[in-house]
Amino acid sequence: MTPTTDNQKPVIKTELPGPNARAIVEADAKWVTPSYPRPDYKLVAERAYGVWIEDPDGNVFLDCNAGVAVCSTGHCHPEIVKAITDQTQRLIHLCGTDFYYRHMPELGKKLSEICPIEGPAKTHFANSGAEAIETALKLAMYHTRRQKFISFFGSFHGRTLGALSLTSSKKAQRLGFMRQALDVVHVPYPNKFRHFADDMPCDGEKVSRDVINWIENRLFKTTTPPEEVAGIILEVVQGEGGYVPAPTSFVKELRRICDENGIMLIVDEVQSGMGRTGKMFALDHHDGVKADIMCLAKGIASGLPIGACVARAEIMDWHKGAHASTFGGNPVCIASALKTIELLEGGLVENAANVGAYLKSGLETLKDRYDCIGDVRGMGLMLGVEFVTDKTSLKPDAALRDRIEVACFERGLIILGCGTSTIRWSPPLILTKENADVALEIFEEAIKASV
Ligand SMILES: Cc1ncc(COP(=O)(O)O)c(C=O)c1O
Repeated sequence: MTPTTDNQKPVIKTELPGPNARAIVEADAKWVTPSYPRPDYKLVAERAYGVWIEDPDGNVFLDCNAGVAVCSTGHCHPEIVKAITDQTQRLIHLCGTDFYYRHMPELGKKLSEICPIEGPAKTHFANSGAEAIETALKLAMYHTRRQKFISFFGSFHGRTLGALSLTSSKKAQRLGFMRQALDVVHVPYPNKFRHFADDMPCDGEKVSRDVINWIENRLFKTTTPPEEVAGIILEVVQGEGGYVPAPTSFVKELRRICDENGIMLIVDEVQSGMGRTGKMFALDHHDGVKADIMCLAKGIASGLPIGACVARAEIMDWHKGAHASTFGGNPVCIASALKTIELLEGGLVENAANVGAYLKSGLETLKDRYDCIGDVRGMGLMLGVEFVTDKTSLKPDAALRDRIEVACFERGLIILGCGTSTIRWSPPLILTKENADVALEIFEEAIKASV
């Protein structure tokens, strides 16, 4: 079957998982680590095209998760497949940390042009989001000669030991690993649907002020002198923590704090970047605020593993041998990244904005209709729907969210939870309004069947 975004519907023809899928799940339980945070439903993929995923029993699902915000151009986009195939016939690997090939400077130049970073930027290439974060942490420490970091509750920056010191979206990520490797202090995230003081909605300006106040008047004056802080790490839209966007006033104030104190503003766009929010980067929504260092991965290469740490050129001033990676910036991955960016600039970012607005308004209609939807938020095709017991108490209802996730799967729609009781919408950026209509119809049926 060729890639398609037409308005076909999911096809479920067996019980789920079907016999072939079940065998794979059973083999997985025997041979693969049990640490993966898989949801209650079991999706087994055999192949995928466009916004569709086919399982080994011939069931076809509509994908509104994109391999956790990775397959930005859809599954197996023909131009991506061609770029990868062509590259594999010329050069697969050479180790760019010791030798040279054109791909690294080409993507580095492109990222310097498109990233919201002041002046020319340089890029260090890695293989994942967590590795891009590790790079950012080392770079900030090296450049500032400081060791402390500020991170946010609810944040997710990866599971390697340095990144894990920042991560705080779930207890399971930390449990069993004892002390953190780095000196990180966590502060509340400016979530206007749940102010950290009472878990209730408030004005975005108020929660912004309260968090800034917490940093400047509590942290800086007690445990965390600003002159010892190397970096503040921000997800402009918190991802795993619940698809929560930060208010513009907050982002601006954080920039001010960093400028006044020589702190690196490290923006983690691993999940929110590469067109997902309807602009190339989530930071682009915030009145021209610039990052000092940015971390990218996930959607940058349509599914091939690559991470990038992009920094102002004068910040990336470390010595030869200070940081490198054998596979990072592999030519095949970069060929895919360059083609991905071309497709994003050629219309997919715009599509994310348009179809995202359409999907969001459909979700808002459902919010008006169902007492269990407390909040619909986000930009572009990075949308969160938070489930609550009722609209008065606004108590998070994680069990309901989990039931809805499974009910969607049973009807052929792939969505995934995040935060305490939120469902994230992170479809491929090729999603059409017709696809969105199909998804909304299934989502509503799943809600009705689960409340
Ligand atoms: C915002 C953010 N940063 C970092 C990471 C870590 O990326 P990876 O899983 O590629 O290591 C993730 C992964 O979900 C993420 O969402």
